[in-house]
Parts: sequence; structure tokens; C-alpha cells
Amino acid sequence: MLEDLSRRSFAKLASLAAAIAAAPARAEEAQPDPARGHLATGSFPSGFIWGTATSAYQIEGAVAEDGRGRSIWDTFSHQPGHIADGTTADRADDHYHRYKEDVALIRELGAKAYRFSIAWPRVFPEGVGAANPKGLDFYDRLLDELLANGIEPYATLYHWDLPQALQDRFGGWQSTETSKAFADYAAYVAQRLTDRVKTIFTVNEVGRFVTFGYGLGIDAPGLKLPPKQLNQVRHNVALAHGLAVQAIRAHGRAGTKVGPAENIAACVPAIDTRENARAAEIATRELNAGFLNVVLEGKYTDGFLAYAGANAPTYTEDELKIIGSKNDFIGLNIYAPQFYVLASERAPGFSILPFPKSFPHMSADWLRIGPETAYWVPRLAAKVWNVETIYISENGASSADEVRPDGKVYDLDRIMYLRAYLTQLQRAIAEGAPVRGYFLWSLMDNFEWIYGFGKRFGLYHVDFETLGRRPKLSASFYRNVIARNAVDV
Ligand code: BG6
Repeated sequence: MLEDLSRRSFAKLASLAAAIAAAPARAEEAQPDPARGHLATGSFPSGFIWGTATSAYQIEGAVAEDGRGRSIWDTFSHQPGHIADGTTADRADDHYHRYKEDVALIRELGAKAYRFSIAWPRVFPEGVGAANPKGLDFYDRLLDELLANGIEPYATLYHWDLPQALQDRFGGWQSTETSKAFADYAAYVAQRLTDRVKTIFTVNEVGRFVTFGYGLGIDAPGLKLPPKQLNQVRHNVALAHGLAVQAIRAHGRAGTKVGPAENIAACVPAIDTRENARAAEIATRELNAGFLNVVLEGKYTDGFLAYAGANAPTYTEDELKIIGSKNDFIGLNIYAPQFYVLASERAPGFSILPFPKSFPHMSADWLRIGPETAYWVPRLAAKVWNVETIYISENGASSADEVRPDGKVYDLDRIMYLRAYLTQLQRAIAEGAPVRGYFLWSLMDNFEWIYGFGKRFGLYHVDFETLGRRPKLSASFYRNVIARNAVDV
């Protein structure tokens, strides 16, 4: 009887809950609270840049249009066994043709900034040599559309779609010929687009595409190089970055800002004590020695060179100078805590803790939930490298994103993740971390590399059959954050 009663009242409650769910609260109507002072709990500084991010291969499609050459990801995704669901990004979100609709989606969020990437093989189909006359036309149209909608463009030059021709001719990033080709491409883009693009990210996530693409064989081009060659690849990419910084300064409009967008090895003190925070500083420097540190200090750390030993890359002092060219900012892609550390008496002064199996994560296993990463990482980066301007160039989460019978996606887990990370980011900024903007990954669901279409990161759900876009609940959440310039802690 009792059981029956509780079952019935549960059923009642459930239908009430369903009715309420069908009419979701209009979170976007929340107004700024005038009672909250400057950087009161949850508030971001005025002028803080709210944006979203995407990349060319993941959304554009149109891989054989207007003279685009092939990229290593075209080759790789077409080879069986590489992409979990057997898909390719030949069509992806068809953003190439639907960019106006997508710019309207950004506008609907109230976001004033958009980070996108330029497909190198559209501009130089062979990687080097003659530019494709139609290569930048699409980006011309995109930029005009963004600006007409009051959205500031932030362009990334390299989000992993290396022209296949460079892989074939030079072994891709295994050769400094590719670094030089990248500088020429950067110069060309700077010349043509910096009348409208004021901020350029050079390379996206060296920590991922070098290790996964050239070391583990997981990403394109699918190589498993031994350590010495892998370190050389990373060095060549750092050199490409430095050369591109110089090329952009030489060929872009005065005032164009340039820097990398890196998935920094995210170090977090497991317990907040002064000693552990110091250990996290040391770890940040040493565990990013192969790219960010050499870019920001113009030298490899002693620890890196000692550890690499005979496998250290070969380089000249001149190359280090180029690599160390001054950046205007750093972009940090922050998703998951990578290393929880404690202070250690033993050199180099930190120990790395193992993750328990039960550590929580979002729908991708690697995407562990550690909101304090958004507090510590910008703080540590600013301190360790004396950086004055940081953008969070990516942050976001994949979740299951079921479309309910009412046609909506209630991605409460993504909202939980975003709220928690933004709260910690706000705390860092309130304490002085120089973070000027935030680009949520991603505007819409897209081709998630080795996962194909099996992982969704978007604020907008994409039906990959019809290509229809629809806002998830998280789009309302983000719109509310942007409108109030605050996170609801
Ligand atoms: C970053 C990349 O690694 O995270 C994005 O810059 C990527 O391009 C995102 O889409 C999510 O990663 P993944 O591996 O789940 O697709």
C-alpha cells in the first residue's frame, strides 16, 4: 500500500516535472543585478570578450570546392579504422555554404567574438608555390558577415589541416621546409586579412597534434616516430610559430596581435598550500618545456634537455631567437586537469599524483571534470611567464545531448561543467589573472576528429542528416552569462 502510494505520487511528480520541463525557464531573460558591484561574486570585468570557437576541417565541408587542396585529415579520415564512427568531414556542418546562418547563431548568443580557423589547403593547395586565387574568398565573405553582425573575428592559421602535399614532399612537420611554408602562408593571410582581423592565433594545440599525429599514430598523419624525431617535429612547429609571428608583424597592419593557442599541460596543486602552488609553477614550466616554455622563454629548460638527452632536438641559437619572438598574448585551451601535483623534496620539486579510476569525467573519458583548472592554469601561466594578456581560446564539454520528444536538448551536464569552470575563471580574474576573453568550444556540434560525429561539444545541436541546427539549453545559459557579464554562482 505504502509502496503503491509512493509509486503513484512519484508518477504524479514525474508528470508534473515533465510539464515543467516542456516549458523551460527563460534563463535568457535574467537581468544584470545592479546590486552587484565591480567584480562582485560572479562578475567579469567590463569589456570582457565572450566568444565561441570552431575550426575549419571540423565544420566547413566543401572539401573539393573552389580549388581547395587535400589536407592530411582528408587522407587520414578516408583510411579505414581511423575514425570511430567511420565518417569523414567531407560535408561536416556544411558551414562553407551555411556560414550566414551560423553567424546568426553567434549573434543570437550575444557573443561579440568568434574564433575560427583558416584552411591552409584552401589558400595554398600545394602548401607552397602559387596561392589559389579563390583561396581566401570564403573567409572574405565570412569576415564581412561577422563584422556586419558586430562580431569580432579571431583567426587561427593552423588547426591541424596540413596540406597533404607538404606531408608528401617534406614529411610535413618533420622538415623545416614546412615551417618556412607556414611563414609564407602566414604572411599572405596577414597581408590580405588584417584590415579586418586584428588578432591571429598561429598554431592550435601543438601538445596534441604533434604527440597524437607524429608520436602515437592516433591523429593525422598517423605516424609513430621515435622520441628524437618527435622532439624535432615539435621544434619545427615552434620554429614555424616564431617565423609566423615575424611574418605577421612584417606583412600585417600595424597593431595586429599574434600568439599561440595551446592545450597547455594543465598543472593543478592537489591541495592549495604555498608549497604545492610553488610546485605547480615548476611543473607548469617543465611539463610545457617542449613548446610553450621555449616559445615564451626562447630556450629549452635544463630539465627538458637533461631528460631528452640524446633525443633532444637539433637546433641553432638563431632558431631559438626566432622561436622566442615576442607574442602579444597566449591562448590557453583549458578542458581537463592533466596533472595534480604536490610539492616534493626531490628534484625537480614536484610529484604527480595518479588519477583514481572513479575520477568524474564528461562524455569523453579524457575530459575529466576539474573546474579549479580554470583558476590555476591562467594564474600559473601569468606568473611563470610574466604574460600580460591571456585568452581562454577553448573551453567546453561533450555530453550525451539527447533530443527529447519535445525537440529540445536539456544538456544540464554541460551547463554544470561550464558554470563550474566559469566560476573558477572569474575567481582567477578577480584575483588579478590577466584573462581578457573566453571562447567556448564549440559554437555547434561538429566533426570531432577521431570520434567523428560521435561526440558533441556544441551550444547548438546539429542533426548530421538534415544539418538542422537547434539551440541546446546551454545556449540559453551562455546567453545569460554574456548578457549579465557574470556567472550565476
Ligand atoms: C581540442 C581541439 O583538442 O578539443 C578541438 O582544439 C577539439 O579541435 C576539442 O574539437 C575536443 O577534442 P576531441 O578530441 O574530443 O574532439
